Amino acid sequence: MEKEKIVSGLATVWAAKNLVLYEETASTNLDAKKLAAQGAEHGTLVVANMQTSGRGRRGRTWLSPAGESVYMSLLLRPLCEPNQASALTLVMALAVLEAVKELKPQNCGIKWPNDIVMNGKKICGILTEMCMKKTDIDYVVIGVGVNANQSSFAEEIADTATSIFEQSGERVDRAWLICRVMHYFEQAYAEFEKTWDLTGLIELYNRYLLNKDRQVRVLDPKGEYEGVALGINEQGELLV
Ligand code: BTN
Repeated sequence: MEKEKIVSGLATVWAAKNLVLYEETASTNLDAKKLAAQGAEHGTLVVANMQTSGRGRRGRTWLSPAGESVYMSLLLRPLCEPNQASALTLVMALAVLEAVKELKPQNCGIKWPNDIVMNGKKICGILTEMCMKKTDIDYVVIGVGVNANQSSFAEEIADTATSIFEQSGERVDRAWLICRVMHYFEQAYAEFEKTWDLTGLIELYNRYLLNKDRQVRVLDPKGEYEGVALGINEQGELLV
C-alpha cells in the first residue's frame, strides 16, 4: 500500500488526524478498538493491505486478500446519544458511494442500510461497532471493506459480490479511493454533527437508495410483511 500517497492525500482532507497502516493484520476493526481503549483520538484511521480475520456483519468473515481491496476502520468519539450513533453507518455508506461514483457513475447505489451495490452485486460492506462508558459513547468504530480490484470470490458469495475492477475493467488506486472516501465522509460528518441525525443528508441518501419506491419485505418481530420503501427518515430508518 502506498503509505506516502495516503498520508499526503489525507493531509488535505483529514488534516492532522492519526493514520495507522498495517501490511497485514487480523482485523482493522479490532485494531481500532484496541487503539481506542489506549486513548487514540477521534478521527484515527486504521488501514491494512490484508486482513487474516476480517469480520463481517452477523458474525460472518470478510475475506481480505493482500493488495486487492480496501480494508479500513475509522475511530470516532461522537458527542451524541448512543441511539443516534447507528446513523453513522449510513453516513459512511454515503461517503463510499460518492467516492465510488467518481470512478463509475452508472449503476451503483446504496442497498439500505449500508451495502454499496454495483449492477446488482455488492462491492462494499460496513461494520460499525460501538463501545459505551457508563451511559455515554466511549467510541464508535466504522469498518469499511471495498472490493476494489478482486477478480475472484469465494463460492458462497460469487453470485452476490463483485469488485469495481470487475465492473469497470479498470484497476483502482486504493490510496486514492481511501482519500476520496475520507473527503466525502468529512463533509457528510460535518452535516451529521449539526443535528446528530441525518436531516441534512436524507435527500442525498434517498437519491442513491436502490430500495426506494421498490417492494421490500420487512422482517418485523411481530410478523413479516411486504410494502413499498419510501426512503429513510432522520434516524436512518427505512420508511415502508
Ligand atoms: C459486511 O458484512 O457487510 C461488513 C463487512 C465489513 C468489512 C470491513 S473490512 C475492514 C474492517 N475490518 C473488519 O474486520 N471488518 C471491516
